[in-house]
Amino acid sequence: MALKSFLMIFTPLSIITFTSISASTHALPFVVFHGISDQCSNEGVTQFTELLSKWSGSQGYCIEIGNGAWDSWFMPFLKQTAIACEKVKKMSELRGGYNIIGLSQGTMVGRGILEFCDGGPPVRNLISLAGPHAGIASIPFCGSTLVCILVDFLLELAVYSNFVQEHLAPANYIKIPTDIDDYRKGCKFLPKLNNEINRNSTYRERFTSLQNLVLIMFEKDEILVPKETSWFGYYTNGSWSTALPAQETTLYTEDWIGLKALDEAGKVKYFKASGSHLEITYSEMKEYIQPYLVENEPYLVETGHLRIQDSHSVWPFSGLKEATIKLYISN
Ligand SMILES: *[C@@H]1O[C@H](CO)[C@@H](O)[C@H](O)[C@H]1NC(C)=O
Ligand SMILES: *[C@@H]1O[C@H](CO)[C@@H](O)[C@H](O)[C@H]1NC(C)=O
Repeated sequence: MALKSFLMIFTPLSIITFTSISASTHALPFVVFHGISDQCSNEGVTQFTELLSKWSGSQGYCIEIGNGAWDSWFMPFLKQTAIACEKVKKMSELRGGYNIIGLSQGTMVGRGILEFCDGGPPVRNLISLAGPHAGIASIPFCGSTLVCILVDFLLELAVYSNFVQEHLAPANYIKIPTDIDDYRKGCKFLPKLNNEINRNSTYRERFTSLQNLVLIMFEKDEILVPKETSWFGYYTNGSWSTALPAQETTLYTEDWIGLKALDEAGKVKYFKASGSHLEITYSEMKEYIQPYLVENEPYLVETGHLRIQDSHSVWPFSGLKEATIKLYISN
């Protein structure tokens, strides 16, 4: 009698377990590029990469450029991109395609690889958290450490001078709205990345080859000015007032890099996280990032009158649901 009720209870469950095995998904590897002042070995970035690996069942790698924090401030972006390009080309794991996750400034490295890296492995999805895609109008408040004194000194020299462009990484994507002409003449990275002057059709082709472009803006972002740059929005020439939405900028209407083409194909996902710069909850990561790391959408398995989801859509850390990771290291 006892055995009989045991079987009655457990037989349907074992069928479900068996069926759900066939619903397993395959995921491409992903790489993470961290933000300014940060480095791969720091806890936030490590935890972020490990959690996403675990949830998506894919291998995640944080790629360091130079020595990490210092070089993130002082190595010019074309060089950062060239180093990152060589690194991804050497990783045999990425040859079948991979996804890129960029954190703030790291998004610029990710886009640099996507657009400029000749012979690099194919990039499937680009996931951007607080990426300064359309530029930033002021340098993030730094502080009084030795590094910051050096930064202020370099900025005062003139942001679009050759010297500052070669020695201060964020100067490569600063776009002063009242100094657009000097920006176009002197800025050595963002105008090229956004195909603003010499339209290189190769960059556009590579950008539009993405399967998904995921753009996450942080509602309380005080580091990126304006925060709408995370969605490719920006101030108009000569104005410091409200930022235009991406769709009203020339980059979009003239489709310099293919953002409009991607958007019209439904491949640009605009998400808003509720925190400050790079402060993201686990549930936001599950909703905005994890689905793009999994090759096939998780699907439902039906057996008789029971309906369960496959393992990818089951929350593995129910006790930690509202945990938050802060990925921005301030001084
Ligand atoms: C455009 O970019 C490609 C790839 O980097 C390069 O080979 C080509 O020379 C560039 N074309 C122009 C006109 O600059
Ligand atoms: C920006 O505005 C200035 C002043 O009106 C003008 O001289 C300049 O040509 C404009 N630049 C662009 C890129 O539209």
